[in-house]
Amino acid sequence: MTTIEDASVSTTAAPTMHGGLANLDEEHSYWLDDVEGTVPADLQGTFYRNGPGRQMIGDQKYGHWFDGCGMLSVFSIDEGKVHFANRYVRTPKYVKETAKQQICYRGFGTQIPGGILKNVGRMPANPSNTNLVYHGGKLLTLYEGGRPFHVDATTLETHGEYTYDGGLKRSMVFSAHGHYLGQTGDWVNFGAGSLGYDKNGPKMCFNIFRIDSAGKVKKFGQLPIEHFPFAHDFAVSGKYAIFFVGSISMGSIGPVMLGQRTIGDGIGFDPSIPMTVSVVDLDTMQEVRKFETGAGAIIHFGNAFEDGDEVVVDAMFADNFVANDALSDVFNAKELRGGEFRRYRLNMASGEMSHEVMSPTNSEFPTFNQTVAGQKHEATYSAVSVENGHNSFFNGFQRVDFDGDIQLNTLAPGYFGSEPLFAPSKNSNADQDGYLFEVVYNAHEHNSSLMIFRAADIAEPVATLKLKHHLPHQFHGFWHDKVMLNDAR
Ligand SMILES: [Fe+2]
Repeated sequence: MTTIEDASVSTTAAPTMHGGLANLDEEHSYWLDDVEGTVPADLQGTFYRNGPGRQMIGDQKYGHWFDGCGMLSVFSIDEGKVHFANRYVRTPKYVKETAKQQICYRGFGTQIPGGILKNVGRMPANPSNTNLVYHGGKLLTLYEGGRPFHVDATTLETHGEYTYDGGLKRSMVFSAHGHYLGQTGDWVNFGAGSLGYDKNGPKMCFNIFRIDSAGKVKKFGQLPIEHFPFAHDFAVSGKYAIFFVGSISMGSIGPVMLGQRTIGDGIGFDPSIPMTVSVVDLDTMQEVRKFETGAGAIIHFGNAFEDGDEVVVDAMFADNFVANDALSDVFNAKELRGGEFRRYRLNMASGEMSHEVMSPTNSEFPTFNQTVAGQKHEATYSAVSVENGHNSFFNGFQRVDFDGDIQLNTLAPGYFGSEPLFAPSKNSNADQDGYLFEVVYNAHEHNSSLMIFRAADIAEPVATLKLKHHLPHQFHGFWHDKVMLNDAR
């Protein structure tokens, strides 16, 4: 393994990540004209991101990072120029709370102020703040506790909740992490659901949706599960959906319904729960293999593919859920560390399961070139959290080649990174023939920049484009190879 570091080490105190939690209430649309370097001519398309745009409404703070209202940040890139726009998803929560300037809905970790009676019987609202996808001709914003919202990809206007022509029923939720099914053009997603009740209470399942390239639910399946896990993501290979059902338990729903506590308050890592892995054939929608391993949890997955008898799965492993402590107290959080980048091999013939550690650095938000989804890939990119003597929120990013070579870019103290997202260059003909986007928050100046790197060498950016304001720390993004935003044309 070789590691190329670009580290800046300082012994003086640097500002923390907390400034990046400030609201961005204004909605902007402008060309980025503060540019260092050159925006590549062979980079054309639209980089969409989603994440909380505000952590406060009026003078009230949300109780968890997951509860801030979803705000799209959109970089449209064309002929060497970049246009920026941001716009909130007009969920009922956003509209009502903006009008009243106070918390009106419960959240994953937020109670409505005023005590138990204000909260009893109320389920968390959907802020539609986690991820997005452009598939079947529509831009959908995603949040795992509810249904998607359909947003116009060119005007960013919100059209409303999206149901796939009724295929996604009111009682159903839809994860924020759907995946392409290999090269079929289909997109697969899941959501926690119920198979009814027996004498022990509700029987839980994952509802699995296979959606064709026209945006129609082509196949639907249900995978029974034995407990109610925190299941944020899954993996999809060329023909399988792979569910790691981990040791993070959601706790009892009773006190939540009684208004006594939030879902986030009850969530926790239970080492007595082994992690199981279910492999579902996406033609038959039936479980075809189940593996069991020690306690653990996977928050995010990278690529997966079949290699002979084996299914290979890239994943970020954790043996705890201390991250929830930081997420539920973001204004005071001291650090946010990621997981351990592992590559699992599931032998479908023998039933054996093994893994290797791909990177020694705490990391999260794994991404890869989506044009090789479900096939053997050359590289995985992720945000990293390194110890540099300062606040250790995500403060760098890395490229991990398939054979284990690592290139790490450590940001200078006081700069904080995000999910690195890959975009192929125009007429790309190789896995790493493209660029990597990194949105960086500069806590010294309280503003943000879009940095563009060559994916094959992330040591120095080819272009850095400074925004006129900060962008709050966000979650996930999506690359679309068309220039979609009206204003950018
Ligand atoms: Fe996520």
